[in-house]
Amino acid sequence: MAEAAFQKCINPDCGAQFDCGQAIFKCPACGELLDIRYDWDKIEVPGKLSEFAGRWGTRDNRLDFSGVWRFRELLNFCEDRHKVSIGEGQTILQQNNAVGEYVDMEAGRLHLQYEGLNPSGSFKDNGMTAAFSHAKMVGANASACASTGNTSASMALYAHSCGVKCTVFIGSGRIAFGKLSQAMDYGAQTIQILGDFDDCMRQVQDVCTQLGLYLLNSLNPFRLEGQKTIMYRIIEGLGWEVPDWIVVPGGNLGNSSAFGKAFFELKQLGLIDRIPRMAIINATGANTLTDLVNNKKLSWNEGKVDQRIIDDYYADLTARNYSPHTCASAIEISRPVNLKKCLRAIDICDGVVRAVTDEEIVDAKAIIGKHGLGCEPASAATIAGLRHLREEGVIGGDQHVACVLTGHLLKDPDRTVNYHKDKQGQFSNPPVEAPNDLEEILKLIR
Ligand code: F0G
Repeated sequence: MAEAAFQKCINPDCGAQFDCGQAIFKCPACGELLDIRYDWDKIEVPGKLSEFAGRWGTRDNRLDFSGVWRFRELLNFCEDRHKVSIGEGQTILQQNNAVGEYVDMEAGRLHLQYEGLNPSGSFKDNGMTAAFSHAKMVGANASACASTGNTSASMALYAHSCGVKCTVFIGSGRIAFGKLSQAMDYGAQTIQILGDFDDCMRQVQDVCTQLGLYLLNSLNPFRLEGQKTIMYRIIEGLGWEVPDWIVVPGGNLGNSSAFGKAFFELKQLGLIDRIPRMAIINATGANTLTDLVNNKKLSWNEGKVDQRIIDDYYADLTARNYSPHTCASAIEISRPVNLKKCLRAIDICDGVVRAVTDEEIVDAKAIIGKHGLGCEPASAATIAGLRHLREEGVIGGDQHVACVLTGHLLKDPDRTVNYHKDKQGQFSNPPVEAPNDLEEILKLIR
């Protein structure tokens, strides 16, 4: 029932509560992030996670078919009639020994969660189905987001499928072509700002406030509710066993925040008996989280996060006119909006944070492509980061690890073609030029 859910400010000194019928996205009292909370006594949650699997048998019901709404009791903030679905969450967890070998893991231990198999080609659809359901619930008819590409593609797809207008803000020249092509093709009004993602994020919040548009960035707590289901599906893929580690790329830090919340709630409900550890991987060219956590020792501290450390850090970025740069454009973000929720997730999951170079990312991406289903650069940061953590001995070769591959290979074709054609890395597989002559061609086949 919808009344079992409410919005709550994450700042323990505030803790203000609001009903789910409001689209506010930040605490009106103190400006902090909002959570969706549940009164679990009012929700009939299945006694065992494996009961959700029974819904495969009734997948002609559109909500049972959805890999998000199949778990609907665990994100029970709206009535079924408002729920929007376009078949998201039909993703797979693949055990991959060849990629496992690259990161020095024992056979059977590395698993890749392919979120690129979603309708718009990235994990964002898990969140959009939830947020658009809330948008329908509150009667929104126009939406907006800032994006490094995937949010805009996903938002545009869901917006047109449920008749909501949409405007996307992207940093000029900062977006991979696969993603830009989607936003335009799905009919979004696309505004390219002369700036980076962080500039877009600032502008979109003001635009939404002034024009009353529904905001679809991961500041929107309803989006994160949908993204929790990625973790449920990983557990499902492991036969309802919890892995030892989850590895996820870190950009605006929505995923890591959602995953921490998912595990906290499952444990609270007695549906799992232990919480996995989490590794969040930045690119070195966009490493705010790594710097703040590993160098400045910023932590959740029971909700009393040291704001001064964050303010000083951002003031320094501003003073240096700093703009992040990485080939993994999806995570080219230096002021992640979900920072505090992510710190909470690190606390819940005994998390670690690392940064990897662009060279490491593109090599890892080639390995995933050669031995798996492929992914975009940001997703490959997981394997590059896992390699570091194996070398450091933080993650054992016999532990069960699930890496979240957040976006499809075809999102960023330029990056892939350049890597191979221009021999940019150890695993480049360039095309071979051949004369139009059978004898010569035969000699080239290896
Ligand atoms: N991987 C991909 C493929 C992404 O598109 C993003 C974020 C991330 C990882 C990072 O996830 O923000 O939850 O930490 N893309 C956003 C966008 C920012 O606008 O498409 P996060």
